[in-house]
Amino acid sequence: MQVADKNFYLDEEQIQRLLEEAKKARLLAYAPYSSYQVGAALLTKGGRVYGGCNIENASYGAAICAERVAVARAIAEGETDFVAMAVVADSPEPGSPCGICRQFLAEFAPELPLIMANLDGKVRQGSLEAYLPYAFNKDYFRAEEAK
Ligand code: THU
Repeated sequence: MQVADKNFYLDEEQIQRLLEEAKKARLLAYAPYSSYQVGAALLTKGGRVYGGCNIENASYGAAICAERVAVARAIAEGETDFVAMAVVADSPEPGSPCGICRQFLAEFAPELPLIMANLDGKVRQGSLEAYLPYAFNKDYFRAEEAK
């Protein structure tokens, strides 16, 4: 399986690396309430991979998804150019980023290639653009208001 996009090309080795890193990150999930562990791995243009896991809370709404943890880690290290993200969960279908995570990702990489998988090896891929069409972003603000 290969992922091609306008500006770059992901080969099989990179895809496998991302899936492995997402699986590893998933093992660190803190999900005592849902028991649904998710792992994400974000590849940056600098070649680094940032892992993320979901972190739940007794106040359920305070939970954060694996995808946003991975993005936050990268941003906090000064990396804002993203190449691809893998998401892995133990679900019947490949793990799929929730709406908030799609929105969060779209801020930085609206066309980000996503590689989604479950632990049975079922894999799905697609660009974020297809998963969040007409994403709300800074372009919706009128110039004089976007200060
Ligand atoms: N979750 C993620 O980490 N990523 C997703 O894309 C979907 C949902 C987490 C949030 C919560 O900890 C658990 O999965 C169940 O919703």
